[in-house]
Amino acid sequence: MVELHCPRYGLSSDSTLFTRTYSNNDLTQNPMSSNPAPAAAWPGVIRRYARFLPVTAETPIVTLLEGNTPLIPVPNFVAAIGANFDLRLKYEAMNPTCSFKDRGMTMAITKAKERGAKIVVCASTGNTSASAAAYAARAGLKCVVILPQGKIAHGKMSQALLYGATTVSIEGNFDDALNIVRELGETGLVEVVNSVNPVRIEGQKTAAFEICDALGDAPDFHFLPVGNAGNITAYWRGFREYAEAGLSDTLPRMMGWQAAGAAPLVLGYPVAHPETVATAIRIGNPASWQGAMDAARESSGSIRSVTDEEILHAYKLLARTEGVMVEPACAAPLAGLIKAIRAGEIPDGSLVTATMTGHGLKDPDTAIRVAGFEPILVKATMQAVMAAVGLA
Ligand code: F0G
Repeated sequence: MVELHCPRYGLSSDSTLFTRTYSNNDLTQNPMSSNPAPAAAWPGVIRRYARFLPVTAETPIVTLLEGNTPLIPVPNFVAAIGANFDLRLKYEAMNPTCSFKDRGMTMAITKAKERGAKIVVCASTGNTSASAAAYAARAGLKCVVILPQGKIAHGKMSQALLYGATTVSIEGNFDDALNIVRELGETGLVEVVNSVNPVRIEGQKTAAFEICDALGDAPDFHFLPVGNAGNITAYWRGFREYAEAGLSDTLPRMMGWQAAGAAPLVLGYPVAHPETVATAIRIGNPASWQGAMDAARESSGSIRSVTDEEILHAYKLLARTEGVMVEPACAAPLAGLIKAIRAGEIPDGSLVTATMTGHGLKDPDTAIRVAGFEPILVKATMQAVMAAVGLA
């Protein structure tokens, strides 16, 4: 048996694995203390939440220490939208490849390695491919990513290329790419690491655990963007499992948001040609369709849509009021929140969380376009700068 050492997180050497000894207090030491104890080292989501995951003490864990992302209060944004409740953003941009995909990918690549796979493959709107490429590099596996041509934000493309994934663009959309990947999977030559691989969902549910750990319970509402629908499925599973384990008392209402031009779950049928500025969720036939509908129904939540205009408004408002930069897909649930408030659906004083799934720097082109202005070019003198910024 492999002896793993992770005393702070209570990893035992037997197959029952980890006990839950970590507490939020470990991370909030008194800064005035003369000799504060060092903060506990975060071990990544598999070691932290092993008792909820399909791993054993022999599993060869591939991790970049993903997870443990901040839950950022955004009172200025809440005031700007005329609301009166507590909103916290689960800022998944702080993961190693700057999106929530790393939680599922640490599991998928770990299990691929455990099974002796040599090649992993995924279809992607960008973030899954970035994450797969990184974790495959870490594990020494070959990675093939299949992307819809011309619809991948630049930051995401740069990641797949630099991590060294074999990168294929197809003349089609994400749904076409995923169909090809499913077929490739059936050959038995490759390991599929899209969320059709169930261990991806297992890893992603850890975000719900972290929210409960940080708040001491589940929130009243949880908002998130929905594309291929794996994440809403994963969060709902995570919230339920934590409650069943007695680690939280309540369950949130799950509020999923699609882009209006790519809203099959709202329409009730697949969309052949999905279109939205939020390229991450430009998906017409989600793989986890049923999981998403179950999450909404069982939690008394909903899955609805917002327009690109509403998405970009919320995207810019968050950046300008809070200094929080997210990619456009993350603004779908924020635009949805504005809708829900106007409809009187969120009682004052509610505790609301929303997942910000990916970093704004992933899509710098949209950021520059939405900012609405260019740098001011002047001569290299103080006078010229003062004149340009209105100080002269
Ligand atoms: N937000 C971002 C930033 C994403 O990249 C995705 C999905 C979602 C939301 C939607 O999550 O698919 O679980 O409903 N991106 C996938 C990809 C499809 O290939 O990177 P979901």
